[in-house]
Amino acid sequence: MSEGADDDGGAGAAARSRGGSPRGDGFSPSALGTREHWDAVYERELQTFQEYGDTGEIWFGEESMTRLIRWMQKHKIPLDASVLDIGTGNGVFLVELAKFGFSNITGIDYSPSAIQLSGNIIEKEGLSNIKLKVEDFLNPSTKLSGFHICIDKGTFDAISLNPDNAIEKRKQYVKSLSRVLKVKGFFLITSCNWTKEELLNEFSEGFELFEELRTPRFSFGGRSGNSVAALVFQKTELTTLGHFLEEPHPEGEQPMGSCFC
Ligand SMILES: C[S@@+](CC[C@H](N)C(=O)[O-])C[C@H]1O[C@@H](n2cnc3c(N)ncnc32)[C@H](O)[C@@H]1O
Repeated sequence: MSEGADDDGGAGAAARSRGGSPRGDGFSPSALGTREHWDAVYERELQTFQEYGDTGEIWFGEESMTRLIRWMQKHKIPLDASVLDIGTGNGVFLVELAKFGFSNITGIDYSPSAIQLSGNIIEKEGLSNIKLKVEDFLNPSTKLSGFHICIDKGTFDAISLNPDNAIEKRKQYVKSLSRVLKVKGFFLITSCNWTKEELLNEFSEGFELFEELRTPRFSFGGRSGNSVAALVFQKTELTTLGHFLEEPHPEGEQPMGSCFC
């Protein structure tokens, strides 16, 4: 298992891509924003896991997982709260959540190899009751809804680098998030591509900042700052247009995250 330090573990640095010829949002399109890239990554990691038992990259390092779980403990999030890990990758964060006692957790990823890898890792850990699904978060199934907590570690970053209309995809991400998260539910995002101020702007519609989590600071050449932003948003009740954000569910369909509150 590669243990990134609590900087961005090397992986985050690779995702930062504001150089070159930026689009209007300042990001240069990158392979990191494509499904082909992630399929190739997780096919390789799946093979490595099968051969050597190595679970692969933990984005933003082990400390990024501890930081989120510490926040959940501090705020006494019930262990049966429904938690969704958006773009779960190898699912190692799901394993951590389960080890801390969370019992209603779901991981989604649009890469089938990522979900297969997560399943293999979860099985090896002897854990059960973790739900895994291949889902494109930009087009989520109606069943994916009713979550009390949504986690994003590097997925919004990846989507922001998509070469094909990333601005629209980011808007779609916010809409999907509004759909799957309960009113008053929490969204915990860790990002190396966006600053706090930029994230506040991206999630200004239907969400409000609840807390900023401490991340390591750097100091270089007389300037200082954070290499990673970690924020907790809370979903508000109404959009600025006065509409409720949660959508009704088709008759008889039980939302996946519905058992809490
Ligand atoms: C930087 S990796 C982070 C993986 C994991 N969250 C972690 O912290 O180790 C980004 C993940 O987002 C997934 N992803 C990107 N776009 C997605 C989308 N539209 N729907 C679902 N998953 C997506 C990728 O397949 C990849 O697993």
